[in-house]
Amino acid sequence: MQLLKDRILKDGYVVSGNILKVDSFLNHQIDGRLMKEIGIEFKNRFADQKIDKVLTIEASGIAIAVMTSMVLDVPMVFAKKKKPSTMGDAYTAVVHSFTKGIDYDITVAKEFINEGENILIVDDFLANGHAALGLAKLVKDANANVAGIGIVIEKGFQNGSKLLKDNGFRVESLAIIDKLEDNKIYLK
Ligand code: G4P
Repeated sequence: MQLLKDRILKDGYVVSGNILKVDSFLNHQIDGRLMKEIGIEFKNRFADQKIDKVLTIEASGIAIAVMTSMVLDVPMVFAKKKKPSTMGDAYTAVVHSFTKGIDYDITVAKEFINEGENILIVDDFLANGHAALGLAKLVKDANANVAGIGIVIEKGFQNGSKLLKDNGFRVESLAIIDKLEDNKIYLK
């Protein structure tokens, strides 16, 4: 997606050697117009799929998922990283974060993923793929189907895409980073 690639090169920068900061339009301040274009792009890429719902994980996935759900005219639900005490029956998965070196639970109330639904998973970054795999487990536990996985920025030098594809999922990434080297961003 050229608009996104141009924006990454214009406003993104590298920290700690292998982390791309895009806080000015994706992870902190959010460019709503760009999010809308991203939603349209996901709709086009998954046009061959019947999608009943969009699923993501808090926090940075939410803006992307809301816009995608608006374009698709379907509901959106996000997995929570902390189960509220008021939440009833829920689907849960453990996700390992390599970036943070921790395991955490992700949770969605059972009432928001229904058996047989076709779910499009979206997220901001794909690094090692464990967050997306955790989301896919929630969908599977609900006897629903993963229609595909839409990623805004894939770190192509990490193994997330391979992991997801090896697990049988279709992955569509709007921008793929080949490498981050000497504080420079190399896009595919
Ligand atoms: P994985 O989910 O693909 O396995 O990757 P990992 O555990 O390494 O990622 C943990 C968090 O770090 C995720 O966000 C992920 O989106 C983010 N992340 C990974 N690589 C980068 C990067 O190069 N740049 C930025 N900006 N983020 C990256 P999170 O902790 O769930 O954060 P949030 O969604 O609450 O903002």
